[in-house]
Amino acid sequence: MKAVRGMHDLFGAEIAKWKFIEENVRSVFAQFGYQEIRTPVLEHMEVFSKTVGDETDIVEKQMYQVQKENESLVLRPEGTAGFMRAVLEHQLHRDSSCQRYFYYLPMFRHERPQKGRLRQFHQFGAELINDSSPEADAEMIALLNAIYKKLGINEYDIRINSVGCAECRPQFREALANFFKSHLNELCEQCQKRFERAPMRILDCKKESCQAVAKSAPLITTCLCAPCNEHHRRLKTRLEEAELAFIDDPTIVRGLDYYSKTAFEFTSSLLGAQSALGGGGRYDHLATRFGEKPFPAVGFALGMERLVIALEAKNSLPILQFSPMLYLAALGPQSLDVLFPLSLVLKEEGITTEIPYDSGKSLKSHLKNSNRLQCKFTLILGEDELKKNVAALKDMEKQTQVEISLDHLKIELLKRIKSEH
Ligand code: HAM
Repeated sequence: MKAVRGMHDLFGAEIAKWKFIEENVRSVFAQFGYQEIRTPVLEHMEVFSKTVGDETDIVEKQMYQVQKENESLVLRPEGTAGFMRAVLEHQLHRDSSCQRYFYYLPMFRHERPQKGRLRQFHQFGAELINDSSPEADAEMIALLNAIYKKLGINEYDIRINSVGCAECRPQFREALANFFKSHLNELCEQCQKRFERAPMRILDCKKESCQAVAKSAPLITTCLCAPCNEHHRRLKTRLEEAELAFIDDPTIVRGLDYYSKTAFEFTSSLLGAQSALGGGGRYDHLATRFGEKPFPAVGFALGMERLVIALEAKNSLPILQFSPMLYLAALGPQSLDVLFPLSLVLKEEGITTEIPYDSGKSLKSHLKNSNRLQCKFTLILGEDELKKNVAALKDMEKQTQVEISLDHLKIELLKRIKSEH
């Protein structure tokens, strides 16, 4: 049996890389004052169908469904809708102060797998609620930027846009629908069906023919209302003040329906075809899709697997190997009687140990093993040592060896090994 297509096992050196990235990203969230939130992997289907949008690829064809006792559940394809469901359920928005959350969760989308595009992937995400200012948007972009900088990634563009609001978007949709109507037979079958109900989704269609038409489609910038224009202007000023270079790109519309005003994407040449490192935007009206009063919110998510690809392309991921401090070589069953309990005590004292339970192994094979694992010390206990009531402690780097009395073995080992830390 093999793992499900587009879903991967992680182990060995790969885990070490992931942990390195995870620790660094978490440290940036802590620096910026974001607290963690974890939501369940399964949500009711409506959490996404009502929010991400009926006409989006995610809702139309990418959700994994689980049918159980008349409940229609799905594996979460993204984090924001579940986050909003949790905020509303626990009334977190009632405390009207600005609140900052982050998450690190697996997501599931039934897409065609390719490099950087998986069916189970992992997102770090950040969401900030109860602040409608362009400064909050600028903070989000600065935070995402700080994450990449912390990891040493500089090869990306920051693309920003305004996708308008409930006031000005209808005008844009109409302009788009009129435009696509005159190019209907150049569009793919799906876009022909959705051009009236969801013309913005055509801007997002991956088919070459649709992308060619979309190139000359009207731009949202021509339709923005005064408050949206002002919000966007102030965001740009804030980014300039923070010396965050950006591209004002009116073609960024994002593949999810819930955005209003600011939308942004970080794209990188390190990634290949799936060039989006991360993206997000403002979603001030998402709560209304759950039948609740709106409150301001903005956020982003970044793909963990794409971070790994970017760092591998730069050759800048450390090769981390877990190496125990101490290797315990028990030569014979009597030695194992002494070393097994000792190994448990040492582990509790914080000394990482490796102890093979096959006491028939030769000294040569133990030393080879210890070298392979890059252990700092090897403790050797064989018949000769037992007779002398000692054990031999070998420093693997210096190639020196000392004898330690079995009567003070634990204390002596702790003293010597801890002084090396
Ligand atoms: P998204 O653009 O759909 O946004 O996904 C964010 C990031 O997740 C992408 O930029 C990419 O790095 C990664 N990603 C997406 N799909 C895949 C995939 N199939 N395989 C690997 N990586 C992938 C959202 O999900 C929004 N919830 C972001 C957001 C948060 N907006 C506001 N708050």
